[in-house]
Amino acid sequence: MATPVTEPEAVRVRVAGKVNLSLRSGRRRADGYHPLSTVFQAVSVFDEVEATWAEPGAFTVRVLGEQAALVPEGEDNLAVRAARLLATTWGSSRPLGAELVIRKAIPVSGGMAGGSADAAGALLACAVLWDIDISPDELRVLGAQLGADVPFCLAGGTALGTGRGDELAPVLSRGSYHWVLAFSDGELSTPAVFGKFDQLGLGTDPLEVPAEMMNALVSGDVQALSRCLVNDLEPAALALRPELARVVEAGCTLGALGSVISGSGPTVAFLAANEPAAVDLSVRLSSEGLCRAVKRVSGPVPGARLVV
Ligand code: C5P
Repeated sequence: MATPVTEPEAVRVRVAGKVNLSLRSGRRRADGYHPLSTVFQAVSVFDEVEATWAEPGAFTVRVLGEQAALVPEGEDNLAVRAARLLATTWGSSRPLGAELVIRKAIPVSGGMAGGSADAAGALLACAVLWDIDISPDELRVLGAQLGADVPFCLAGGTALGTGRGDELAPVLSRGSYHWVLAFSDGELSTPAVFGKFDQLGLGTDPLEVPAEMMNALVSGDVQALSRCLVNDLEPAALALRPELARVVEAGCTLGALGSVISGSGPTVAFLAANEPAAVDLSVRLSSEGLCRAVKRVSGPVPGARLVV
């Protein structure tokens, strides 16, 4: 690691949220995690993480955006934990510090990996800020220590996640898909949704790679993709938030090809046939007044990237 003669300017990283096109989960493992087979797609809703030099040993974070008040700004902030982890495992003997600013657009506790995205953004921003020579693969290994979705947030695109969802293989995907996201007023905690999943006695065994979905993605067939959207956590999310069923029903009635609750929810992702259909659906869904906000996005998009 080189010692900078003058401290560089702030480093900014843009990082996308994700939708799980398919999420199959087995039963709870002894370590508390669930074995997954999930297809992630990074979509165009982005958080931005900015890192600047701070006093050695000082790690701070400021969160900006509509839902900023819902994000902890102390030591348990995932981006702060990410910066500390990078400093302690990859920093030189010289103590490091960072001041982080997060501009949030990905919903908080919305099932779109918002916290993991910020951790991924902080890892990349601090690696560049501190001039740490770490490869993308090594960054992903570090990311997996912070959360199961962090490796995907670094990589982006479309990928199959196995293990806890952190063992990634890229998925061939043709074209761009248009989604309408229904952001919910409340949050859902991922451990609570997995807890409900256990309580309901759910869990697919064995976990299969969704071959039909892989074929739909490689041929860019949006109709076929809409027929194989699936999330094993959906019954658990609906049990905790029964009103989500009305959102799902409304989107499908208003012209979505298909719908899926993203991850542990409560964000609902509606797949549209094309961009004009997504515009039409987002206008109609907003006017129903069933959710906090409606956002049109497309995917796949890249993962964590420097803003130059
Ligand atoms: O890895 P991460 O910290 O994002 O996971 C949050 C929680 O979600 C875990 O503590 C666990 O309760 C649950 N989880 C799980 N199985 C997974 C991923 C997450 O049970 N594969």
